[in-house]
Amino acid sequence: MRRRSVLTLGAVGAVAAAVRPSDALASAALPFPPGFGWGAATSAYQLEGAAKEDGRGPSVWDVFSHQPGRIRNGDTGDVAADHYHRYTEDLDIMRDLGLTSYRFSISWSRVLPTGRGTVNPRGVDFYHRLIDGLLSRGIAPVVTLFHWDTPQALQELGGWENRDCASWFADYAHTMFSAFGDTVPTWLTINEPKTVVDVGYTAGTHAPGKQDRRLANVVGHHLLLGHGLAVQALRATGGRSRIGAALSLSPTYPAADSDGARRQAVAADAEENRRWLDPLLLGRYPEDWLATQAADAPVRAAIKDGDLAIIGSRNDLLGVNYYGPTHVTATGSRVMRHPTSQATWQEIYPDGLFDLLTRVKRDYGDIPVSITENGMPTQNPLHDQDRVTFLRDHLTAAHRAIQAGVPLESYHLWSLMDNFEWAEGYTQRWGIIHVDFATQRRTLKASAEWYKTVIANNGL
Ligand code: FCB
Repeated sequence: MRRRSVLTLGAVGAVAAAVRPSDALASAALPFPPGFGWGAATSAYQLEGAAKEDGRGPSVWDVFSHQPGRIRNGDTGDVAADHYHRYTEDLDIMRDLGLTSYRFSISWSRVLPTGRGTVNPRGVDFYHRLIDGLLSRGIAPVVTLFHWDTPQALQELGGWENRDCASWFADYAHTMFSAFGDTVPTWLTINEPKTVVDVGYTAGTHAPGKQDRRLANVVGHHLLLGHGLAVQALRATGGRSRIGAALSLSPTYPAADSDGARRQAVAADAEENRRWLDPLLLGRYPEDWLATQAADAPVRAAIKDGDLAIIGSRNDLLGVNYYGPTHVTATGSRVMRHPTSQATWQEIYPDGLFDLLTRVKRDYGDIPVSITENGMPTQNPLHDQDRVTFLRDHLTAAHRAIQAGVPLESYHLWSLMDNFEWAEGYTQRWGIIHVDFATQRRTLKASAEWYKTVIANNGL
């Protein structure tokens, strides 16, 4: 699946699929395990706004979004969904939906305005209030430390291109572990390193907007190193919280019944999945992937003695972001085999989620899995039956994976509410809550009502 590198081009292809009204009323024919985590996900820059308030420092996304021509319609995350000011209302909405889990990210430059050194107590206080608000409503916080918003002050020192960034990240992580301790049961270190590498450093259509495959692979390694150091920092606190990473994974398939296509699918799997899963969960890079990188992207030079032992530090869980599959031809081209959404990089294939989850279990063992993102954008403002169909079909696939023995513990749809969708600005609405960005009014969409019923029934 080639994320956002193609995003500004293709035509809009909304998926129209009707849902019978009775679906929303169905009782749980597909029950989920007791205690299954029903969640939604967001990230700081996409939701919070308050970009210059209470001592927050700029991140690469503040700088990037203000550069002319980078974001559709010149949108920025300056205000976004104004969650920084409206978090209490948003917490109440979460409670009314019945959520039992909420995944959000901390803005690194809100708590450490220059990325390291002096802590900004007002920034830390915001997350204390948010976490306490979740806990008092019976919602478990799942907190991401890095959802792409590198502090600009660190970017000026090379950001993730600089090996030191892994240590700066671990120091920041340690500061957060000390501040929040066991009030956060689950930490996620990095979100989708693949997207940072492919879109931020190869296509250049995300911050920091570079197009340099050499840098990209180095950045990828440093992100993994930062993850490993943060895992070790958490262990050093002796606390009880769990930790893992959130990876964007995509099951890969040959697009034709030929040996050539099958070989290319293996190579695509290395690029999409194994290059991240193997270091994290097995403590090594896949040899076939390393071999194909050598010529134009010198990742080997970035790998120092001992790095893989750090990167492979034991994880407590794996976060899986699933948006769609990858199909490859015998010549290595990526082709679409299923309907797309308004996000033209997205191919809608719910069975791919089953294939992906069962594959993780087969190849990496019984590590607990959380679906940390899954969703689609739609242009239907409130009557988003296409999203209901999408969610129902993906949850059905997730249920099947649980039946097949996958230790899947929770599901977070992307997203709780409409927000700043990176280079697409506010043109793509991924939320189950509609946000009127002129008034900041929140309204439940049909998908929110549907999800509420699913949660109440603990199943479909
Ligand atoms: C994922 C990102 C998330 C959001 C969704 C649509 O790649 O992690 O922030 O943009 O895509």
